[in-house]
Order: sequence, then structure tokens, then C-alpha cells
Amino acid sequence: MENVLLFGGRGYIASHIKTIYPNAMLPETDIADAAGVAEVLDRVKPDVVINAAGKTGRPNVDWCEDHKLETMRSNVQGPLNLLEACSKRKIYWVHIGSGCTYEGDNGGKGFTEEDAPNFTGSFYARSKLWIDQILKDFPVLQLRLRMPFDGTDQPRSLINKLKKYPKVLDQQNSLTYVPDFLLALQTLVTNRRTGIYNVVNSGTISPYRIMLQYKEFVDPNHVFERLTLDHLGDVVKAGRSNCVLSNAKVLAEGVSMRPVEEAVTEALRDLRKLS
Ligand SMILES: NC(=O)c1ccc[n+]([C@@H]2O[C@H](COP(=O)([O-])OP(=O)(O)OC[C@H]3O[C@@H](n4cnc5c(N)ncnc54)[C@H](OP(=O)(O)O)[C@@H]3O)[C@@H](O)[C@H]2O)c1
Repeated sequence: MENVLLFGGRGYIASHIKTIYPNAMLPETDIADAAGVAEVLDRVKPDVVINAAGKTGRPNVDWCEDHKLETMRSNVQGPLNLLEACSKRKIYWVHIGSGCTYEGDNGGKGFTEEDAPNFTGSFYARSKLWIDQILKDFPVLQLRLRMPFDGTDQPRSLINKLKKYPKVLDQQNSLTYVPDFLLALQTLVTNRRTGIYNVVNSGTISPYRIMLQYKEFVDPNHVFERLTLDHLGDVVKAGRSNCVLSNAKVLAEGVSMRPVEEAVTEALRDLRKLS
């Protein structure tokens, strides 16, 4: 069994990663503390390091606009420490990145891993973009997620976030269904892949459509309004990425990323069981 060391163990994504690596070590280490990172690597001697630590902001990424230094420490300095520490020790490592560094659908084709990120509208997105572009020159596996969701009641799952919004954006996007992401992670790690992968489901959907389906299948009393892109600025401080990514590269690895509509249906069915 692989000896996995998982940073950011108390977070949403890490809570799911733990389910596929139940024996993973979860250090409390601050990844921005280079000495602390070196100490834990030398003590645990992992086969694989997974970095799911990062500042995502509470209640949302607007927090990062007012906490730029903390965001830099966790989203840029921390991964740079891991790069140096893992490189020196020849340890294979994985960084959880974000696809929220693009805007648009690239003429309907979706953006591939080769396309340069083009969304710089929030400090959070810029911090993720900077480290993404630095790490791409090194043998690191980077998995870009977008608006991850699942069928649990975890507050960080996209569907549970959308439930709280009185107005929901009607804009087509690529999304990541967490169960499919976990299978992708497992496959890519087993095969020791490196480089960037867009880990998003096939097809696109709008958050507004997800909530329409939520109302139909989970809670008929749920009330919300439709929000269009030109009014997004009325409800958020920093800009938000809306984009379509190509998942051809991850599919070519034999990973199944189901059509997003199917994934949403499955998640809503699970949520309905909880309600
Ligand atoms: N959820 C999304 O929408 C989404 C989408 C795309 C990509 N991602 C990326 O996926 C990764 C995990 O996100 P998530 O949704 O699981 O976020 P999360 O629930 O906020 O979890 C991140 C965890 O990292 C911890 N952390 C922050 N700075 C750290 C540091 N310097 N050292 C060690 N731990 C630190 C946080 O602790 P504190 O709470 O104490 O800071 C938190 O427990 C992030 O890199 C994020 O950018 C997330």
C-alpha cells in the first residue's frame, strides 16, 4: 500500500481524498513553513505527497481580496516549499489546482492544458494561476478542479453553496463531480503521471439549471432567482471565472468523467435521500 502524506487534511477536498487513501498521514504542518515541511517529509518518508491545502476564503473567495499575504503564503509559498522539499528528496507529489483561471469557452472548444490562463479577475484566481504556471515546468501532477460538488451535506460542495444564494447565475460552466475526480486522482497517481490535467466532467451546465433540478427533485419549496452574467458584479466583490475546459487529456488516460448532467442527477438523488 502507498504511503501517502496529505496536506490540508481538514479541508473539503482532502476529506474526500482520505476516503481513497484511508491510511494517509494528515500532518497539521503549515505548508508555508519550509522547515516544518522538511521535518515531516523526513519523518514520514512518503511515497506520494498530496497538497490539498490552500486558502479558498470564508465565506468565499472575496476573503482573499482582503487577506492577500495569507493567500500568498498558502497558495504560492506553500506549494513552492513542497516543490523544493519533494524535488530534493525525489518524492512524487500532487498539487490540487483550479480551473478558475480561465474565462469563456475558447470558441466552443474549451480550454486545454496548453492554453494560457486568461482570467485574472480575483486575487484568489491570480494566486492559483501563478503557482499553476510555475509548477508546470516541473514534474508535478497538477489537477485542476472547477466548482467541485457531490451528493453529501458538506457545506463546501457547490450544490450546498448554491442553496444559500437568493440569486443563482445562469452561465454554462465546466464542473467537477468529486467521485469522478477521486477515480482520476487514483489512476493518475498509480501511473505516476505528471503535468497539468483538467479534471472536469464532460459537457457543461449552469448553476441556475442545477438549482432548477434541485427544486424539482429535492426541495420543491426552495426559492431563488435567476442571475445573468451582466449582474454578477452586483452580488460579489471580486470577479468570478466562468469557463469551459477541455477534459480530453484526462479522458485519454482511460478515466471516466461522466456527462455533467448525469453527475448532477446522481448527486441530487443522494441529497434527496438525506433530506
Ligand atoms: N472548493 C473549490 O471550489 C475548489 C475549486 C478548485 C480548486 N480548489 C482547490 O482545492 C484545494 C482544496 O480546497 P478545498 O475546497 O478543500 O478548501 P478548504 O475546504 O478551504 O480546505 C483547505 C484546507 O487547507 C488548509 N490550509 C490553508 N492554508 C494552509 C497552510 N498554509 N498549511 C496547511 N494547511 C492550510 C485550510 O485550513 P484553514 O481553514 O485553517 O485555513 C483548510 O483546512 C485548494 O487549493 C483550492 O484552491 C478548490
